[in-house]
Amino acid sequence: MKNFIKNLPKAELHLHIEGSFEPAQMFEIAKRNKIEIPYKTVEEIEKAYKFDCLQDFLDIYYQGASVLIYEQDFYDLTYSYLEKCSAQNVRHTEIMFDPQTHTERGISFEIVINGISRACEDAEKNLNISSYLIMSFLRHLSEEDAFKTLNQSLPFKDKIKAIGLDSSEIGNPPSKFKNVYKSAIEEGYIPLAHAGEEGPPAYIWEALDILSIKRIDHGNNCLQDENLIKEIIKRDIALTVCPLSNIALQVVKDLKDHPLKKMMDLGLKVTVNSDDPAYFGGQVNQNYIEIQKALGLSKDDLVILAKNSFNYSLLSNKNKEEYTKSLDEYFEINK
Ligand code: HPA
Ligand code: ZN
Repeated sequence: MKNFIKNLPKAELHLHIEGSFEPAQMFEIAKRNKIEIPYKTVEEIEKAYKFDCLQDFLDIYYQGASVLIYEQDFYDLTYSYLEKCSAQNVRHTEIMFDPQTHTERGISFEIVINGISRACEDAEKNLNISSYLIMSFLRHLSEEDAFKTLNQSLPFKDKIKAIGLDSSEIGNPPSKFKNVYKSAIEEGYIPLAHAGEEGPPAYIWEALDILSIKRIDHGNNCLQDENLIKEIIKRDIALTVCPLSNIALQVVKDLKDHPLKKMMDLGLKVTVNSDDPAYFGGQVNQNYIEIQKALGLSKDDLVILAKNSFNYSLLSNKNKEEYTKSLDEYFEINK
């Protein structure tokens, strides 16, 4: 199974680039930028990475991102992630980045986007992996702040495919961002959002009906509302599920109780993703490996998950057909 997963062609659709920041690289960049971080060793960092909930994690995650200053830092961070993708047979990735985490500290939007997008271009050439960027608004900040970010992004519109919504969910419902989503859609961005990770089903309804989202990040709590499940299926919208993240943030208590297979059986389209791999104990393949083992997923299930990862990506239909065909061939040879 491990080899089957390792060689399975796949896409990753839920990944925060700031959450891919590995401790060793954090030390290296902090050192060259002469920034003090509150840890001396990788072991100390790992000890600090114990979370009771989303907010616990976010506090540490924003602190980690604060050592990123120069375009080269954003480049190195992104290129390292893409190298890991390449080693896991991730052929396409849709990367979220949080501009406000950086612009709030006085780093320009331009530095962030240029570093990230240059790494993506180089990885496409050198590693044969394609990527799209998702600009995510921090939902604990105001809609006005999100508008500022939207305006900053417009000169770089050709580098950004979609918008997302992340950070502290409870108390910050999707409806808070109604107007900025409307404007972003008019600018040609595809609307996506985190919903129902800790928040109630009502937040998922709002993300669908008020923000018009085309994909739900996490979405676990849709299971509490039968009508919502039906609606998600009817609209053919996928959930980007992140098993190890759910364990790390105590959204799910034990992987054996993870609802991924139940979601598939209900007819929901789900994908497997790492979310913040440097913080949650595993890259995307580790998520596949651990959830396969915990739930006893078959090779059939794994191929469905990988097919979903391409079919619910933002790739063209032609690309989706090609990847579906290559997954059929892969299954035929390796079943
Ligand atoms: N949820 C919300 N915000 C985030 C996450 C997440 O899982 N990861 C990074 N920012
Ligand atoms: Zn996320």
